[in-house]
Amino acid sequence: MSQLNSINELFVSELSNVSNFTELFNLKAKFLGKKSLLVEQMAKLGALTPEEKKQLGLEINTVREYILKNLSEKQKELEELELVQKLNAQSIDITLPGRGFTRGRIHPITNTINELKNIFVRMGFSHVEGPEIEDDWHNFTALNINESHPARQMHDTFYMQNVEGLLRTHTSGVQIRYMEKNQPPIRIISSGRVYRSDYDATHTPMFHQLEGLVIGEEINFGHLKGCIAQFLKEFFRVNALPMRWRSSYFPFTEPSAEIDIKCDRSTKKEIRIGEGNDWLEILGCGMVHEKVLKNVGIDPMKYQGFAFGVGIERLTMLKHNIPDLRTLFEGDMRWHEIYGF
Ligand code: DAH
Repeated sequence: MSQLNSINELFVSELSNVSNFTELFNLKAKFLGKKSLLVEQMAKLGALTPEEKKQLGLEINTVREYILKNLSEKQKELEELELVQKLNAQSIDITLPGRGFTRGRIHPITNTINELKNIFVRMGFSHVEGPEIEDDWHNFTALNINESHPARQMHDTFYMQNVEGLLRTHTSGVQIRYMEKNQPPIRIISSGRVYRSDYDATHTPMFHQLEGLVIGEEINFGHLKGCIAQFLKEFFRVNALPMRWRSSYFPFTEPSAEIDIKCDRSTKKEIRIGEGNDWLEILGCGMVHEKVLKNVGIDPMKYQGFAFGVGIERLTMLKHNIPDLRTLFEGDMRWHEIYGF
């Protein structure tokens, strides 16, 4: 009996020192396991009288149950402690301001392309697309740009390594692709990325162009003028937009022209389109060269037409008064917000 008492006392004192699951496990082994103090006591039962056996057996059981009960209480205690510790470690400070989220926007370039598509579709144009990886024929040769033309030089054009091909330097190649597959009447626009090895405040190695092409039996320079005037008026939302048609040169058009629009640069802050006394170059155009028509199998004696090409970044910058082209491609949402995109 006194031995059982001291086992019990020993258990109580050791249990009070237990502070984790491993210690609890070891304590259980020490007091209830196969070689435990309690099992030692049970071994004595064999030598006792039935009366004594009953008595000691009862007492052993009482101690055993006491130990079991306390072990399981300790286990619960430890589990609760662990939970509290976990919760404390993961606590959320609900007084912090929320992180919020910003919604994506339509990129200003995409926005301009959509506006341009709307304007030209209303004038009866269809939108077609062409590949950004082009070959010499579609980007240069068929457009009457011969081998020695400066646009072919390495410093302008990105050529592919090890394979034939280049990144298109303009959208004019789409004209060729379309005319190779379709006979007139033709009235198309094409827009997309083009590439040139150039980088400063007004040039990025990738930029966007819009190309237009109209071919028919009766198409003349007057149609070109009317079409461009309508497009610029609608795009800049200026009713009587003064234009200046300057003669120019492109290998794929004859005659060729560059168009300037009236603008006011006197307030340093912004350019006002359609006002003031300055001129601003806005696009290139002309009557499609007969060599180009011949190159794609269209009879220049029967058909003629016009083409134009315009930089989409330039249009976007002018419309929204953006001074640095590069900011368009930095993806900074704060910038987009300032310009109201
Ligand atoms: N391809 C010219 C360029 O990238 C732009 C251009 C000018 C396109 C006149 C045309 C055109 O179709 O007729 O600078």
